Amino acid sequence: MEGSFLKVKIFDTTLRDGEQTPGVSLTPDQKLRTAVKLDELGVDVIEAGSAITSEGERQGIKNIVSEGLNAEICSFARAVKVDIDAAIECGVDSVHLVVPTSDLHIKHKLRKTREDVQEFAVESTEYAVDHGLTVELSAEDSTRTDFDFLKEIFSEGIDAGAHRICACDTVGMLTPERAYEFYGGLTDLGVPVSVHCHNDFGLAVANTLSALRAGATQAHVTINGIGERAGNASLEELVVALHSLYKVETGVNVGMLYDMSRTVARMTGIYLQPNKAIVGENAFAHESGIHADGVMKKAETYEPITPELVGHKRRFVMGKHVGSHIIRQKINEMGLRVDEERFQQIFSRIKALGDMGKCVTDVDLQAIAEDVLGVL
Ligand code: KIV
Ligand code: ZN
Repeated sequence: MEGSFLKVKIFDTTLRDGEQTPGVSLTPDQKLRTAVKLDELGVDVIEAGSAITSEGERQGIKNIVSEGLNAEICSFARAVKVDIDAAIECGVDSVHLVVPTSDLHIKHKLRKTREDVQEFAVESTEYAVDHGLTVELSAEDSTRTDFDFLKEIFSEGIDAGAHRICACDTVGMLTPERAYEFYGGLTDLGVPVSVHCHNDFGLAVANTLSALRAGATQAHVTINGIGERAGNASLEELVVALHSLYKVETGVNVGMLYDMSRTVARMTGIYLQPNKAIVGENAFAHESGIHADGVMKKAETYEPITPELVGHKRRFVMGKHVGSHIIRQKINEMGLRVDEERFQQIFSRIKALGDMGKCVTDVDLQAIAEDVLGVL
């Protein structure tokens, strides 16, 4: 795979695609607080929601618009006038204007023809542009669409005034190799190309990176990768991979990522698996004696980036695999003095607890040490 990255813009859809996570529904106030923080984080575009959805949704979007943030504020809209009117009422800068383009969606979901969809795309683009909106024309299920038809509909949309185009890998069917070829094939249309990948096969970030390498310039992402089914490409994984592995900067302040992730987890009630890359609770946790010892001597031995880079913290976990170094260090930090014999008693008790399937916290360690020292 050849190619190189151009300037990458971050289109955050936590408040639209992310909010489509089963079981998630945000109040206007939660949306506003999240948007303010996303703006502080430095994303380029905030898809604040879909204005047609409800009164509360419109209120949330209007509140975000009136905050006067730096980011472009966008509303999702189907290619119908009522959706665009709702977005206009909210005062957004742009619409993410979506038409399904695969025959599967056109026939079975819309029960329409390709020609109908072409007409909707062109008419609604013209309507939105005439009302002063920036238009990102998006094709749903792009990656299962006849490629010539996809390009035709995008070209017609661009002729009608669309400022950007977005190809959605709606059910996450791409591989990194195909993503490179697919998005690369859209870069001759003369407007910026957005990549929108879902994570059904766990490849959303890898596919997004490939698309960017092939010439796409804007990535659709969500905080923590939340979204329909297995979610969307995760903002924190993409941005840190670009920063640390490819030396490509976005406008995102990576030092805020852990805090942003926790805010969205609390707000949505969607908590992360501990081993989630970059922001999971175990992303910088070390248990085995060999790893902990290595990290204590030089962190890079078992950490690809520092936890501080993303505002996270390093943690040493005292379980079955713990080594004596870390226990000694923690006991010293607690201000306790133990001789070798007592140290071995403490160490064996931690190992025994580990064998019973338990991990020892700092408080447990202090209690064990004090018990052995008879200072309780
Ligand atoms: O994944 C998708 O296809 C989408 C579109 C509806 C924009 O989110
Ligand atoms: Zn999506």
